Amino acid sequence: MHSVDATRLDLAREFRQRPFGPHSQDLQKLLRLLRGEPIAGRIVVVRPERDGPWYLAKITGPKGHPIEIFKDREYPDIAEAYWALFRKRWEARTGKPLLLDGRDREGPPSAEGDLTLAAASRPILGYADKFSVENGQSIEFKVSSDLPGYYRATLLRLRSADREGVGIKTAVVETPTNREYVARRKPVAAGSYVEVGDEQAFVLTSFSLLAYVWPTTPTKGRQAPLGNWTEKSGRGYLLSLDDTGALSLVVGDGKRRQEVSTKIPLLERHWYLVAASFDAVTGDSWVGQRPLLRYPMWDTTGERTAILDVRPAPEGSFRIAAWKEAYADRDTRSAAGGHYNGKIEDPAVIARSLTGAQRAALLADVAVPETAGSLVAFWDFSREIPSTTVVDVSSHGRHGHTVNLPTRAMKGRQWNGSEYNWTHKPEHYGAIHFHDDDLYDCGWDTDFELTVPEDLASGLYCAHLAQGGHEDYVPFVVRPPKGTTRADLALLLPTASYWAYGNHHMQVEWREGEHVTGTFSIVQSTDLFLHGHPEYGCSLYDVHSDGSGVCYSSRLRPLLRMRPNEALWQLPADTHIIDWLEEKRIAFDVITEDDLEAEGEALLTRYRCVMTGTHPEYPSKRMLDAFATFQKEGGRFIYLGGNGFYWRTSYHPSLPGVVEMRRAEDGIRTWHAEGGEYYHSFTGELGGMWRRMGRAPQSVAGTGMTAQGFDRSTYYERTPASFDPRVAFIFDGVGERDRIGDFGLIGGGAAGWEVDRADPALGTPPHALVVATATDFTSAYHWVKEELTHTHSAITAETCPFVRCDMVFFETLKGGAVFSTSSIAWAGSLSHNNYTNNVSRITENVVRRFLDPAPL
Ligand SMILES: [Fe+2]
Repeated sequence: MHSVDATRLDLAREFRQRPFGPHSQDLQKLLRLLRGEPIAGRIVVVRPERDGPWYLAKITGPKGHPIEIFKDREYPDIAEAYWALFRKRWEARTGKPLLLDGRDREGPPSAEGDLTLAAASRPILGYADKFSVENGQSIEFKVSSDLPGYYRATLLRLRSADREGVGIKTAVVETPTNREYVARRKPVAAGSYVEVGDEQAFVLTSFSLLAYVWPTTPTKGRQAPLGNWTEKSGRGYLLSLDDTGALSLVVGDGKRRQEVSTKIPLLERHWYLVAASFDAVTGDSWVGQRPLLRYPMWDTTGERTAILDVRPAPEGSFRIAAWKEAYADRDTRSAAGGHYNGKIEDPAVIARSLTGAQRAALLADVAVPETAGSLVAFWDFSREIPSTTVVDVSSHGRHGHTVNLPTRAMKGRQWNGSEYNWTHKPEHYGAIHFHDDDLYDCGWDTDFELTVPEDLASGLYCAHLAQGGHEDYVPFVVRPPKGTTRADLALLLPTASYWAYGNHHMQVEWREGEHVTGTFSIVQSTDLFLHGHPEYGCSLYDVHSDGSGVCYSSRLRPLLRMRPNEALWQLPADTHIIDWLEEKRIAFDVITEDDLEAEGEALLTRYRCVMTGTHPEYPSKRMLDAFATFQKEGGRFIYLGGNGFYWRTSYHPSLPGVVEMRRAEDGIRTWHAEGGEYYHSFTGELGGMWRRMGRAPQSVAGTGMTAQGFDRSTYYERTPASFDPRVAFIFDGVGERDRIGDFGLIGGGAAGWEVDRADPALGTPPHALVVATATDFTSAYHWVKEELTHTHSAITAETCPFVRCDMVFFETLKGGAVFSTSSIAWAGSLSHNNYTNNVSRITENVVRRFLDPAPL
């Protein structure tokens, strides 16, 4: 079992002939054995430059770990690279060379490649303060360039972002901001912490520091849970994890630094009471750590005392979970270092040292010593959880604020399973989880500001940035001024999903990805850049550097995948719809889910017809409520995507541009929320799948997620219901037996990638008509896991009746209607044959009829 049979050269031959499938059963089994290896050590194919050759490469670890690229062998196309990769993995599994013919005797690349984090570069990058902007409003662009001199900015209307299929289509918009700007390099400072002002209050002679900590990477190197330490000058004091992961106290006066350590590394993901005490008169210094869960044979309780002759001479403010890098940088965000990974709860500062009895009590079983009026600050993280405020509950009000959004509403040391909703028992959620790769807002200066002309048509636009042969596009939407419309049709771009996918690292880090997609991972230029630059932050699909899931994602940073030239997913794929609407000369406004979250149903009910993007997966409650009202009030709703309305998302109550979600309980996901951490910190809402909350996607659009696979897409066939006179308009010009969408840019078909089905039990209305269905999927397509009650193997398209894609129509009250194509791939078929095809025809039939005010 689980071994590769090195005699089955017939299977190797089959793979070489048809690397992208379809594959025989035996080859599928072999490929399953060759896939899903651990990330560190995995061989992949990489293409560092967009049009450059392919290479083999070895991943050495998650983001920030160099990739070893074997540059002495180039492969001109993905098929040849895949064959080289197949041989490498075969040889690793069998220990035998795989040689089918003379060509293979040229041999694989040499054993050693180039270890690099700079395989791909993006010398110029930008983002904007808004994504959706009204006519008459202004939008600010923030640009960083590594190059000297000037860059040129040009405003473009973006019709197609698809480089290879439709081709990039843009039109220049004349504006005074189209000119050259001085190129300036702007750093990105990732890593979350708490900043506490009031430096003088923490300039202490004798003092004690206390906190509960739950470290996730205690041995990653020196970390700074608590103190006013400045690293460069070596001034201040710090309750620290030393380079072995043991608790230590560091003090420095700018000339000398001294440290006392327990010398016992803390265990990962265990709660500890940690404390330090310093007496300025005697120099008596002490550190102590006590695990709250004690093991009989692995006790990490420890303490150490020393007499230090250095007296701390602080110069910076007090921070939690990071130190100040240099005093000169005091006002800049680049100043943080020593980022601590893990949770902290109840940190406190006391203006005197601890007695021997107090130290002993702390190591025995006492939480906080009697402070007798000497408490300097005591922060309770269970207060004001949705905000960035960190409340000091001492009498001094020395409140702090979080930087870069560490995760709140995290289980604290007292959590015992008696309550799962932090709003009911915040004292059980008194921890904040800090990560060295958290990023909310790059905070770059504004380079230029555009006031959107009153007559600029609603649509998708970009600021195009060009310098020395390099470029970037900063996309944004111009929407009609609030309360107005300029067309009867609105294209609702699923921006919550854009932010959710953000700067995802899946191509490198998603271990199961090769099984899910039925292909070997393909690592392209943007994947390599993000892998080498973790400071640009994560997506909701990633785990942080300490392995914990990412719950927050922000747009206030360059989101490199939501750009022209990138993979056809979310924004780039949605431009297929824009391109088609322009081609058909159908007037439309573009609005966004961010707008919908802000304005609710009023945004939709002004339109006769609203159509979605290709993958609106992350709606908020307000969005679902707005869809329901729109449909009830006679609106016409076109769901032009797949796997929509799946996860609950929430927006921050005060900070712009950031969403939260928790991958709770079930669903197709790249990480699992920890038990007890299912409720959103932003709003207190239960996180997870909408269907687990009684609002399955079928209740929104008549269809909901049923299967996914990413090797090939397929076609729909009409059902008997398609001949019902109620839906005759949909199929006008479409033959009775036509295969609908047996072509397209996404997997070669209109039904594919992620697909939905009708199900009355989940909310499809009883009068809904399933007018077409696609069933001819490959075995790479699997029925969704949240519907299985047991694991079993009858879940692939070969045998599972739930692996299908249903096109659905139904009428709603007051002359409204819903039409759903239920497939991410649909829009990729619109342009086929110069926009003359049955996918385009059906879409046009529906859009034009839905824009006709006559009741349906
Ligand atoms: Fe998705």
